[in-house]
Amino acid sequence: MKQTMKTLLIPIVCSALLGFASASQAADAKANYKTHCASCHGNDGKAKTRAGRIAGAKDLTVKAYQDLFTDEQMVQRLKDGVIDKGKEKMKPFKEKLSDDELKSLVAFVRKFAK
Ligand code: HEC
Repeated sequence: MKQTMKTLLIPIVCSALLGFASASQAADAKANYKTHCASCHGNDGKAKTRAGRIAGAKDLTVKAYQDLFTDEQMVQRLKDGVIDKGKEKMKPFKEKLSDDELKSLVAFVRKFAK
């Protein structure tokens, strides 16, 4: 009897913990986006901000634009930044955000185009 309780409880507790972890990761991505990205890309991803216009950021809600890069390429761009004709358009974030944070940001950014 005791044994069956344990085998029943372990998966329940584990999935509850996993659910909690992924929810807090999504919250991190949202907060990181607000802090590091929204100034140019806008809260809605449309880049309709002053800084976004000056930098030349594009509308991330357009699926055809997002189809131009893979998740891996996006992570790489975020790490290294975007430099065009010797001019820095987007800063590199590799010092500021971890690989995991960048990956959750990619998932967050993908949602704009859905
Ligand atoms: C200083 C303004 C600025 C900030 C801050 C900024 N970006 Fe960008 N971002 C740009 C510009 C400009 C481009 C390049 C647009 C182009 O020419 O394709 C770009 C491109 C991108 C792309 C397309 C990448 C590709 O492979 O072409 C993604 C995705 C992106 N930014 C996400 C983010 C995220 C996530 C953050 C926050 C961690 C962020 N950006 C912060 C200006 C900015």
